[in-house]
Amino acid sequence: MNAEFHQTGLSPDADWWRQAAVYQIYPRSFADSNADGLGDLPGITAKASYLQSLGIEAVWLSPFYPSALADGGYDVDDYRDVDPRLGTLEDFDGLLAALHHAGIRLIVDIVPNHSSNRHVWFREALAAPPGSAARERYIFRDGTGPDGSQPPSDWLSHFGGSAWTQVADGQWYLHLFSPEQPDFNWDNPEVREDFLGTLRFWSDRGVDGFRVDVAHGMAKDLSEPLRSRPTPDPRITPDDGTDPLFDRDDVHRIFAEWRKVLNEYDPPRAAVAEAWAPTAPRRALYARPTGLGQAFNFDLLEANWEPETFGTIIATNLAEAGLSGASSTWVLSSHDVVRHASRYGLPPGVDFQAWLLSGGSSPAEDRNVGLARARAATLLMLALPGSSYLYQGEELGLFEVADLPESVLQDPIWARTGQREKGRDGCRVPLPWTADAPFFGFSTTQPHLPQPAWFGPLSVASQDADPGSTLQFYRRALRLRRKLRSAETLSWVQGHRPDVLHFVRPGGWHSISNFGPEPVALPEGEVVITSGPLVKGTLPVDTAAWVIADS
Ligand code: GLC
Repeated sequence: MNAEFHQTGLSPDADWWRQAAVYQIYPRSFADSNADGLGDLPGITAKASYLQSLGIEAVWLSPFYPSALADGGYDVDDYRDVDPRLGTLEDFDGLLAALHHAGIRLIVDIVPNHSSNRHVWFREALAAPPGSAARERYIFRDGTGPDGSQPPSDWLSHFGGSAWTQVADGQWYLHLFSPEQPDFNWDNPEVREDFLGTLRFWSDRGVDGFRVDVAHGMAKDLSEPLRSRPTPDPRITPDDGTDPLFDRDDVHRIFAEWRKVLNEYDPPRAAVAEAWAPTAPRRALYARPTGLGQAFNFDLLEANWEPETFGTIIATNLAEAGLSGASSTWVLSSHDVVRHASRYGLPPGVDFQAWLLSGGSSPAEDRNVGLARARAATLLMLALPGSSYLYQGEELGLFEVADLPESVLQDPIWARTGQREKGRDGCRVPLPWTADAPFFGFSTTQPHLPQPAWFGPLSVASQDADPGSTLQFYRRALRLRRKLRSAETLSWVQGHRPDVLHFVRPGGWHSISNFGPEPVALPEGEVVITSGPLVKGTLPVDTAAWVIADS
């Protein structure tokens, strides 16, 4: 292994998160160590050297807590334990130690908007009468209509249908996601206190930070009568903090309390908000140093491969980072969206759920174009100031598994939409580690989601052996990124056609991306990496390059 990767331990830098490359692991689909078809924590530990050789600075671990998997683990039964199918707390400590030894930080996902319906508090709430203290930890209300048989309000679940479910004694409880995910009442001091305890529990164990699920939804206006909000979309929200459900001003009081606890640690624990806010200044509130400290921006993940769109997003988000004092975040793929190698191989504006319903056949996907653009977009993203969040499998150039049979679908979106949307399983298919072992080396038994035959040539082992592979490209880019990392600014280089984005970071680090058909001449200097082959020394369509200029 390259000497550069022989790190032991972590750098003492308290600001490590500002420009980190963070790799998201969806644990049930990463590596299975105990032959049950489900990835687990020891499976990840066994791949620590793979993660080290990738050159990432941190891992973000999606939920690994006990869960019935009504929503892929985002339905948590117990916030301070490990799902027995994934391991034990000792296994967690082992994973953390292995990552730290490899110089990799660990961010864990925390899901504070809702628990699962198997959480001890929700069981207590169901067993207790209306108006009881146990029910006050969640959001229970009487129904409307003459006999209370209608939901308390028109609020809708993000996964389809009403956000209210009726219980045996006639009351209803709120769930912004599936009925198995009852929302907590964040006005309740017991809930607030308990989560501070959970933050301490994992921080004491040594985790470096938290990814905060549905941060924009935790504070709600529950005053009677409940106000109408007939769309579940958190993006359709006034920008003054007065929506009944999303991006309310009140939520920041919660995060101010969290920040005090996170700052009790040395170094302070990092936190990144999953916050769907209507404007850049509203999102910046989550990212304040007195708040969580950083917030995801999903703009690139939602954007078509278009130069104007990318250019505007980059400029807006760098300005936003300036507002909050946080660094920017960038993300192209996650466990919630169609993989970017597939998105970019489809016509712009396509309805991804309709495409998935067609089994990926209509419209046809152009995988060559999709992968070329995905690699170019990744190289562009990795050159930006701030942190980049990568999703497992994108380093292999994995495409969406669009033709999963309906019988295997796990995402609650499938059932909740009356089978009109297949949901997110296609990006959660277990990783291929080798081409020739059963189940591509992920497990020795049938994985929880089936892998397609085309995974073979994209497996880690196949790409290890190929210097031109996407995996080797990611490794080179991430290694260079560490070396080149410079102050959190960029200057745009003008004078190109509008379909070329060219900026330079301090220290002469140029990023040039060609979205258009005409080749582009590269600036003077050393071409340190390109996302695809140059043509007669010029940058062809859908290709990006980094050039280190002499001056
Ligand atoms: C977040 C997660 C998503 C989950 C939802 C509910 O958006 O990223 O996977 O379904 O929260 O917890």
